[in-house]
Amino acid sequence: MDNFIYSIPTTAYFGKGQINILGETIKAQGGSKVLLAYGGGSIKKNGIYDTVIEQLDKADLAYVELSGIQPNPRIESSQEGIKLYRQRGCDFILAVGGGSTLDACKAIAAGVKYDGPVTDLFVDESGISSKIVAAAPLATILTMAGTGSEMDMGAVITVGEDHKKKVLLHPLLNPRFSILDPEYTYTVPEYHSMAGVADILCHLMEQYFTPDVAAKVQDRMNEGVMKVVLEEAPKILANPQDYEARANIMWASSMALAGFQFLLGKPSPTFPLHGIGHELSSMYDMTHGVTLALLTPAWMRHTMSAAPEHLPIFARFARNVFDVREKDDAKAAEEGVTRLEEFYAVIKMPASLREAGVKEEDLEVIAEKAVEDGQLGILAVLGKDEVLQILRAAF
Ligand code: NZQ
Ligand code: ZN
Repeated sequence: MDNFIYSIPTTAYFGKGQINILGETIKAQGGSKVLLAYGGGSIKKNGIYDTVIEQLDKADLAYVELSGIQPNPRIESSQEGIKLYRQRGCDFILAVGGGSTLDACKAIAAGVKYDGPVTDLFVDESGISSKIVAAAPLATILTMAGTGSEMDMGAVITVGEDHKKKVLLHPLLNPRFSILDPEYTYTVPEYHSMAGVADILCHLMEQYFTPDVAAKVQDRMNEGVMKVVLEEAPKILANPQDYEARANIMWASSMALAGFQFLLGKPSPTFPLHGIGHELSSMYDMTHGVTLALLTPAWMRHTMSAAPEHLPIFARFARNVFDVREKDDAKAAEEGVTRLEEFYAVIKMPASLREAGVKEEDLEVIAEKAVEDGQLGILAVLGKDEVLQILRAAF
């Protein structure tokens, strides 16, 4: 295991009624005028908006609203937020929503403290957004579990006419605090709830499938969280208001990327499934978690065949996460992939890229774009040809 630094600067207020700390905690962070940002209006329908306003009023906090942040958020929303924040003299940002709203607000938080275009702040050759030297204080109220943005230092923003997904990554982007009330996720439509589940699982797998460096604590904890996700997701399908299931899925979302804790001391995998998945979202505005479910089995089979020396990791995954009893590593690994495909069917993910509306003639461009910033993967390195093979297998 390599050396590492572990620090999570975000305080999580988890559970029913935690919204009650909102006003006093914003004030304790020095906030007096809040930029209140949200998405397309779900919070107005389910009552979360009214609760938030009540809390801000109770604490005598002024606020300015930024609404309409769309899924796969575009840079224009963040630019609008930066303008509003500056013009109206805000000193705190409150993001209420899913990963898209949270990510747009992270770009706002960094952008208002930067004297130049926010597009300068994407991850550069150093591996992080090195031009970020300050960020406005940000808190989040999570309404949908999945991305882990509520406890991590990343943001994914769509830019340009080709809808390229770009990443901001910096410790200053961690929210100061996040309010995680599982009841707020009761109204998330089934499709988005399950896409969120697929996203959580993929974050765990992207950190699991790296060369074995005896990071046993990280891997065993990771397997445990994966098992919880597999067990709890069907309960949400059966009853969207199952508090314990919603609570466990929400905390799994937050834990999966908190401080990249399951990757500590391990070689960095470049998140290949996310690299390819983002291109599907760019081209088809496809829901993030769905892209990952579509690609993962094909990526696993490709990697098992291209780098058979890593088969024991896939066999361990099958045995420890899916309780596969097979003794032969290759057979166990394949059974693990089949069981994962069965799980994706249970949570109603589309079975193939074709079924999800992807056109065969686009596969080559998707492969090319996925590697335009460099090769992906670590167990098996993926250039354009390998990505195309994976896309064809998933088609
Ligand atoms: O916009 P509203 O009206 O709020 O509706 C949203 C949206 O339509 C709805 N929703 C959210 N909470 C709801 C609700 N509907 C009813 N009741 C509620 N309580 O759900 C829809 C999807 O929301 P969105 O925020 O787009 O989903 P998600 O949380 O999956 O975020 C996806 C974005 O996060 C990025 C993705 O690339 C994508 O752009 N990611 C961010 C990461 C990070 N910051 O670390 C990592 C991830 O891998 C991911 O890339
Ligand atoms: Zn993701």
